[in-house]
Amino acid sequence: MRKSISVGVLGCGYWGPLLVRNFKNLANCDLTAICDVSEVRLKHMRGLYPDVEYGTDHQQFLNGSGLDAVVIATPVKHHHALAKASLNAGKHTFIEKPMAATSAECEELVEIAERKGLVLMVDHTFLYSSPVRKIVEIAQSGDLGDIRYINSRRLNLGLFQKDINVAWDLAPHDTSIILHVLGEFPVAVNCQGNAHVTPGIEDVTNMSLSFRNKRFATIQSSWLEPRKIREMTIVGTRRMIVYDDLQTHEKIRVYDVRVERPPHYDTFAEFQYSYYYGDSYIPRLQQEEPLKVECQHFLECIKEGKVPLTSGRQGLQVVKVLEAASASLRQGGKVVPLISEPSTSSVRGTLTTEFVEKVSK
Ligand SMILES: NC(=O)c1ccc[n+]([C@@H]2O[C@H](COP(=O)([O-])OP(=O)(O)OC[C@H]3O[C@@H](n4cnc5c(N)ncnc54)[C@H](O)[C@@H]3O)[C@@H](O)[C@H]2O)c1
Repeated sequence: MRKSISVGVLGCGYWGPLLVRNFKNLANCDLTAICDVSEVRLKHMRGLYPDVEYGTDHQQFLNGSGLDAVVIATPVKHHHALAKASLNAGKHTFIEKPMAATSAECEELVEIAERKGLVLMVDHTFLYSSPVRKIVEIAQSGDLGDIRYINSRRLNLGLFQKDINVAWDLAPHDTSIILHVLGEFPVAVNCQGNAHVTPGIEDVTNMSLSFRNKRFATIQSSWLEPRKIREMTIVGTRRMIVYDDLQTHEKIRVYDVRVERPPHYDTFAEFQYSYYYGDSYIPRLQQEEPLKVECQHFLECIKEGKVPLTSGRQGLQVVKVLEAASASLRQGGKVVPLISEPSTSSVRGTLTTEFVEKVSK
């Protein structure tokens, strides 16, 4: 029988406990230690999981608990220092999104992980969700034709963050999905926004990513919206998809609609667009918790020495986009070109349907 992987979690505020619950419930995994600088959070976690080691000092946690892997769920400003310490201590490392505060920090983490042969994974949770996996499957089958553009809106009231703006807080989700669906890295980014509540921290941003062949994507992020909105539209030359993550049963709908220009015409009277309205359908989605699939995938990558679907290099690409968006914001929305990167599909591992089905059983 294979040895269980010993996992520790650093940071147990809002998101950390969800990771603890998932790792705690997975076979072949021992959730052995939890570290948080807050005694209040540790007391809360101790009440839920009395059989786990607890501490406030991350060095002691890294050196003393016999961990194989470390999960970092602290605010982003701590990601780099904690992940670097974790990798240097020889631990496979899972970092929350966004991977770090700068691309230079991400590059250093990728370099250490690769040099030491350790798994480095970033929590881009949506790539493990069934609606996004289905969208990728439909797009890759060619059913949409060529994707022309993607529009994404992630809006709600709060929660206001003190150290990062709304783009760094919410747009990692949209950016990771868009890069994954299009399979390529943008050539330029521009972003406009405003800090209405906390000076210097934008609470509303509109980002636009330009790709080769005139493809583009827009991402609207807001903490100043009365309704919660999680919507994405993917427009292809043959079909279109609307993805509404707040729907319970009909999260994605595929529309068989398109507009075509006549190939040639002689007079204006002859010129007519042709609008095609076909059926729409709702694909069946498997029900499973994305975080459970993701945590199991992390363990699988450790056991089998595989590159994760959301690898450190993929996390780095998302941070490069966010960094360019910040540079554009500082220049009033100017277009910021991006240095060419490997295709997004070449910097990530794979997640097979068989694997997800096995996890969901
Ligand atoms: N994947 C997702 O969908 C998702 C959702 C929410 C948050 N997140 C990410 O999770 C991370 C944490 O967010 P949150 O909302 O849970 O934040 P939070 O502020 O609620 O919790 C962070 C916790 O980290 C602890 N902490 C801070 N510095 C520490 C240190 N040096 N050592 C140990 N513990 C430390 C704090 O005491 C706190 O309990 C962020 O990167 C955020 O972007 C991801």
